[in-house]
Amino acid sequence: INLAIIAGSASSEHDVSLRSAQTIIDALQASHISFTPLYLDKNNNLLLIESNNYENLSPSKSVVLKKHAMNEHFLYDSDGTIINKIDLVFPVLHGQYGEDGAIQGYLEILGIPYIGSSITASAIAMDKELTKIYLKSLGIPTVPHYILHRDASIPSYNTLSENLNSVVLFVKPARCGSSIGVSKVSNQEELTIALQEAFRHDGKLLIEPALNVRELEIAVLEDATSIQASSAGEIVCTQGFYDYTQKYDTSSSAKLYIPTQLNSEILQQIQNYAIKTHKALNCRHLSRVDFFLTGDNQIYVNEINTLPGFTSHSMYPLLWQHAGVSITDLVSRWIHSVLA
Ligand code: ADP
Ligand code: DAL
Ligand code: MG
Repeated sequence: INLAIIAGSASSEHDVSLRSAQTIIDALQASHISFTPLYLDKNNNLLLIESNNYENLSPSKSVVLKKHAMNEHFLYDSDGTIINKIDLVFPVLHGQYGEDGAIQGYLEILGIPYIGSSITASAIAMDKELTKIYLKSLGIPTVPHYILHRDASIPSYNTLSENLNSVVLFVKPARCGSSIGVSKVSNQEELTIALQEAFRHDGKLLIEPALNVRELEIAVLEDATSIQASSAGEIVCTQGFYDYTQKYDTSSSAKLYIPTQLNSEILQQIQNYAIKTHKALNCRHLSRVDFFLTGDNQIYVNEINTLPGFTSHSMYPLLWQHAGVSITDLVSRWIHSVLA
């Protein structure tokens, strides 16, 4: 079995994807799983990585994935010469093109099996507004929000603040990740700057009250026979919020508690919500469901990520590692469930 890993892409989370893919191939190199690392560059051209190194990309050749015969797919170079057989793909891609149904649609057209959620689940989970509509219909609490489209008239800070009943607000692109384009604002001037920044990334924004909450995350693992929720991880930021720097800087001041201390009823409730969210959106194999917990134990689902970060200090792989499930075990379970 040969697994193609695809990382990079024209997404704003391109660099995070490379770090996720590197962590995964570092683990797979010490396993029996054979893999081919592919790179979607910033123009979405597909290239072969010959060094097993996504973080220090060497010159790589352009390749094409194509159907060769019924259920048989090969990787070809630009001269049409076969490089190798590909049995399935793991798109280790975050954000646009990778987590929104685009690569999934491409792979469906080619007829190549892949790890992760399919087109619709990916597209809904990527869109924070659609996710909330879905969650509400299931009775799962979400943070109140206001939707703002690029061409709509923009309410003042005072109006938004009154509507959302909060003096501090969060502004975020509807379809991004890794906190890219997300800002916390508490006056008109900050709002104007935040809107400009968020509109650089998406034509649709969400504005929410800034809640004073604990941030909890549950990793969902689905294989051929079961769906499991991990224990809860918690992120504690001593300053600001869990922004891009706090997520990915190795010197970040954000602390991860794996697992965190939590009242057993709350833990059970968020694990139930995580599984319910994963199933309702029809997610497949993996997802990370992110929660907010208020001081009076109100639980909100903030969002669901169908391809959560896999960097060396990302919650999904760390939560499973804590439970004794390595990255190789995870990938191996997904391969079996895809090819079952
Ligand atoms: P992304 O998809 O980019 O991760 P999130 O909605 O998770 O976007 O927001 C990024 C971070 O911003 C969260 O992890 C949290 O620290 C903070 N945040 C977002 N919304 C709120 C909110 N309504 N109240 C408090 N903090 C928030
Ligand atoms: N979007 C990033 C990779 C995450 O959710 O972990
Ligand atoms: Mg998030």
